[in-house]
Amino acid sequence: MEKFVIKGSKALRGEINISGAKNAAVAILPATILAKGVFNIENVPDIRDINSMLEILEAMGAEVVYTNRSTVRIDTRNINFKAVPYEQTKNLRASYYLLGALLGMYNHAKVAMPGGCNFGGVRPIDLHLKGFSALGAIISTDGGMIKAKAQKLIGNSIYFDKVSVGATINVMLAAVKARGITVIENAAREPHIVDVANFLNLMGADIKGAGTDVIRIHGVSELHACNYSIIPDQIEAGTYMVAAAATKGDLLIKNVIPKHLEPITAKLRECGAIVEEFDDSIRVYATGRLHGCNIKTMPHPGFPTDMQPQFTVLLSLCEGISIVTDSVWDNRFRYVDQLTRMGAQIQIEGKAAIVQGSAVLKGAPVKADDLRAGAAMIIAGLCAKGTTEIEDIIHIDRGYEDVVKKLTDVGASIARMDFPNSASLLNKRA
Ligand code: UD1
Repeated sequence: MEKFVIKGSKALRGEINISGAKNAAVAILPATILAKGVFNIENVPDIRDINSMLEILEAMGAEVVYTNRSTVRIDTRNINFKAVPYEQTKNLRASYYLLGALLGMYNHAKVAMPGGCNFGGVRPIDLHLKGFSALGAIISTDGGMIKAKAQKLIGNSIYFDKVSVGATINVMLAAVKARGITVIENAAREPHIVDVANFLNLMGADIKGAGTDVIRIHGVSELHACNYSIIPDQIEAGTYMVAAAATKGDLLIKNVIPKHLEPITAKLRECGAIVEEFDDSIRVYATGRLHGCNIKTMPHPGFPTDMQPQFTVLLSLCEGISIVTDSVWDNRFRYVDQLTRMGAQIQIEGKAAIVQGSAVLKGAPVKADDLRAGAAMIIAGLCAKGTTEIEDIIHIDRGYEDVVKKLTDVGASIARMDFPNSASLLNKRA
């Protein structure tokens, strides 16, 4: 079993380059299904979720070639759609975008229920399906497969009673070629929604309002292939921003869009960290004492839920009591058990975590319960005294490109080690 082994208490100093946004890429790659042609997509992150998505496209008949490490050429001309089985969707939450893209292109789709990150609660896709139904698709489920079928998709007004990133993007994918006008109300406004809309518009779609809560889509009859560069990953950047502050280090984080990082920047400043914004980079450092603050996760432009676990680690080191409320997911505090084993003092009260600050973290064997929980464990390990071993790092590989190299280059002591019989350095020493 592979683990990350971290020797903590080292301040991170230097420069880190941010890769392309996972949550934009996992939608843009399946969106290529919507046109027959050759796409060149740049700034594609080299992470497991992307590899899984590309493998699915290949299995459908697309030709996928990396022209360099972050640029992929996708030839969709020979896609011979059948069905996407569970074997292919089980590791990838975002496989639900195949439903919207296939439905938009072929008027029918058959895709296994998605797997991927489970934060400890259910992750429904009822809003996605409600959107497809509003466009005229008949939805059925059978043996774990979701089927969507329409004679012809027809534009409609769709109101989401909950803000959903996935449902907003999925309906955009299905509606771009529908007849007439689709209006999505109470749409999500995340940066990757805008990125996907920009990509689709470059393919010839007519989408207006992405980035606001009302998106208008005039259906077009044909889309064409294009070349595109994916935006930088807001959450990868935010993770390193928090790591810089938590280790009392000094990082210049490059290839970012500072505007996308504003909610994280604001909270870091509230804690007493210094954040300097440049055109496409951001510097974060911390010298003196940091103090806690309250965080409430919200859809964009609120504080991102995907930064909640990482920020909670920082708050456990800050002075004072902080309250962290997750209003997006019902049960996203599973990782707290791991943190408390390292010495954090955190109590869960319903949807809130009450964080008693000034903890002295000590290295321990812990696991990555999910992707961002894993990122939180890395930050905790970087700050802890002694050695931390993180298992189940497969989750971290889903979303962080070259995390060991990026951190090692800025002074961290972190290694990926293989423990064939699940033995560990910590156990051997004990
Ligand atoms: C995306 C992100 C994920 C992030 C989340 C919220 C990707 C691939 N993943 O997930 O990292 O944590 O946005 O920012 O982009 N909901 C429903 N019914 C639905 C869909 C969602 O009730 O059909 C609820 C969810 O349970 C949740 C909330 O809506 O409480 C937000 O979920 P949503 O924005 O859809 O998350 P994802 O798109 O799955």
